[in-house]
Amino acid sequence: MLNIIICGAPGCGKGTQSDLIVEKYSLKHLSTGDLLREEIAKRSELGIEAESFISKGNLVPDKMIFDILSKAIEEQTKNSKGIILDGFPRNVAQAEALENLMTQLNKETTLLIDMQVDDEELITRLLKRGETSGRCDDNLETIKKRLEVYESKTAPVSDFYKNKNKYAAINGMGTIDEIFGRISAAIDSKR
Ligand code: AP5
Ligand code: MG
Repeated sequence: MLNIIICGAPGCGKGTQSDLIVEKYSLKHLSTGDLLREEIAKRSELGIEAESFISKGNLVPDKMIFDILSKAIEEQTKNSKGIILDGFPRNVAQAEALENLMTQLNKETTLLIDMQVDDEELITRLLKRGETSGRCDDNLETIKKRLEVYESKTAPVSDFYKNKNKYAAINGMGTIDEIFGRISAAIDSKR
């Protein structure tokens, strides 16, 4: 079983590469950002609350995330070849909660893939996507805040998995195919 975390700053290509990983390794894709945006689109109570955090570039509260994700992880790790977690865990408390849940489910996280992309490139990608995405967080002010939040809250998650020997830094600059080749090599070395 492969249970992969794909991590990295906003716009590093988590969603893009997850689609390719899902196809090659037959994993289930769980993106907390996508789950939250579905709630926003439905105008559910949770979606409306989440939007107030997301549009400012802040993380939504851990409890809200864990409530929607823990059931999904339990479901998707049953009878599957594994999962790819995109956008979660996003701080050390979430990483600890994930590891506790995996232990309870008798599963294991295989690897955290840390996508590394220059800030300038991240901003270029996100502003370009913002022309058509309709995402409330794809504007320069919110992008800058997202990058700050990433550095202060999410980057420490890397050390958490480095200490467990479950960490691979991947150069996220270049073409989508080049990057996917690097990711595949890192995953294959863990199989
Ligand atoms: P989330 O949806 O996770 O967004 P993010 O981390 O900001 O990342 P993005 O989805 O913007 O980028 P990506 O890395 O997926 O890149 P993509 O492949 O799209 O989270 C959004 C918000 O939800 C958070 O800010 C937070 O508020 C909340 N949230 C989510 N999870 C949470 C959690 N666990 N706890 C608390 N709050 C949470 O690529 C970006 C663009 O670049 C695309 O247009 C793509 O086509 C293009 N592109 C991709 N690869 C390349 C390449 N190699 N070259 C050129 N262009 C490329
Ligand atoms: Mg994404």
